[in-house]
Amino acid sequence: MFDRIDHVGIAVEAIDPALALYEASFEMKLVHRETVEEQGVEAVLLDLGENHIELLQPLDAESPVGRFLARNGPGMHHIAYQVSDIESELERLRAAGIELIDQQPRIGIRGSRVAFAHPKYTGGVLTELVQPAEDH
Ligand code: CO
Repeated sequence: MFDRIDHVGIAVEAIDPALALYEASFEMKLVHRETVEEQGVEAVLLDLGENHIELLQPLDAESPVGRFLARNGPGMHHIAYQVSDIESELERLRAAGIELIDQQPRIGIRGSRVAFAHPKYTGGVLTELVQPAEDH
């Protein structure tokens, strides 16, 4: 079972100018900033109630987000659902015939464990499962 929406991921060319919109105009609170080498991004989280907006800036043009930007320009990139047992949720999706990009969880932002499902099997929406670190 998915517990709630954890965040919506948005691809941006550069985080700092994007913060003029999200932090200054939308008045969301910037709560975390991190380079996630494994995903080839610099990322920030902004608080929105119990949910987050995640801004993603590619570290290079060949990263997945870099290729997304080249193809689509900036905009919505993925939706992330929070789960409390990511292994069993991945197993459940696999059994339902949903192809996973990540067979095993990997380390995501702020120490979370994350895995992506293939958008071809999720109605065209790149879908991420997130199990937050214990202290978040
Ligand atoms: Co995400």
